[in-house]
Amino acid sequence: MHPQTRLTLAGQRTDSAYKSVSLPIYQSAIFRFDDTDGKPEYDYSRSGNPTRDALERTIADLEGGAGAVCVASGMAAISTLLSMYEAGAHIVCSHDCYGGTERLLTWLQNQGKLSVSFVDLSDPSSLSLHIRPETRAVWVETPSNPLLRVYDLREIGLIASEAGIEFVVDNTFLSPVLQRPIEFGADFVVHSTTKYMNGHSDVVSGAIIAATPENRERAHFAANALGATSAPFDSWLILRGLKTLPLRMKQHEENAHAVAAYLNSHDSVEQVFYPGLASHRDHDLASTQQSGFGGMVSFEVKGDAASIRRLLSSTRVFTLAESLGGVESLIEQPATMSHASMRVEAREEAGITDNIIRLSVGIGHIDDLLEDLEQALESARCQPAPTIKVQSPAHV
Ligand SMILES: Cc1ncc(COP(=O)(O)O)c(C=O)c1O
Repeated sequence: MHPQTRLTLAGQRTDSAYKSVSLPIYQSAIFRFDDTDGKPEYDYSRSGNPTRDALERTIADLEGGAGAVCVASGMAAISTLLSMYEAGAHIVCSHDCYGGTERLLTWLQNQGKLSVSFVDLSDPSSLSLHIRPETRAVWVETPSNPLLRVYDLREIGLIASEAGIEFVVDNTFLSPVLQRPIEFGADFVVHSTTKYMNGHSDVVSGAIIAATPENRERAHFAANALGATSAPFDSWLILRGLKTLPLRMKQHEENAHAVAAYLNSHDSVEQVFYPGLASHRDHDLASTQQSGFGGMVSFEVKGDAASIRRLLSSTRVFTLAESLGGVESLIEQPATMSHASMRVEAREEAGITDNIIRLSVGIGHIDDLLEDLEQALESARCQPAPTIKVQSPAHV
């Protein structure tokens, strides 16, 4: 069966008591023991829950992994994985990762728990220059956030494997419908399932997918020990969202393509970052390792702080909000919003200036999306009426 069909069946046939077609939400913290001779399949929901298990099986299947562990947020997935490395371990991370990932890695480094090198992996061979005896993993986000640079998964995977280090990929931006890093040698894939996987902006959640059963066990041990595993209701919502993931990704991408092409020809726009445009620096690489270009578009707008503020406050279809991957369209300024937690130097090095605007292109009608951008860019261009200073009457 195709993934699209398998997803429509996900979670079915798990209810042997009543045979409900929709997966039940096992909203129970604990499960009854028959006696003390043996442990039941489930005993306590932090360690295992049937609703979460059904989601984990579905996500592992989608990513082509041996197993998955679903946790409370994307950051819980990242911190659970990082907790698996011993004190003093060194991590190489792509330099333009999500601001929260940069903040966590820097914080762990400042506490002396891990050391980190943030590296521009555009040339994969630069990874070799940063590998030390204590390096345990290379951490890659591709396409990157917010500039949508694409990193060569196959090359990075080969270098990591030769060096005997683990290869972790944050696949949040594309979802397994458009990119499957395990096929390129990733040991672990992480997701903020808050985004495309759920798709409705109503749950914060995350997932770790492991290529081998042993690594799934390591990740499950860490998530259970840390108490990071996700709640039954959240798991159920993600599973429901996943059923329409292939359809949603198709529409996100179609709309994003049209938005990128529109912005590319707009005279208020300096440059557009969308790997689906032939002019994007990584278009060829993206075409080989991705099966689509996704729904995220960033652009550099011309203008000063005041005009950027006018742009961001005048959209009506695009909502000014962080996050991404929901059915609605969002607009944001990474420097002051999603990437505000990043150190200023790190942000500058990654090229995230105040003029970079990020769009999460939703699945609404393209005419409405383009019309909204048109009027917002027009408002940004308009000079505000000069403020007339009222002279105080001389006698006061
Ligand atoms: C690429 C990426 N990874 C991880 C995260 C963190 O996920 P969460 O907000 O679910 O903790 C985000 C959040 O925006 C993200 O964009």
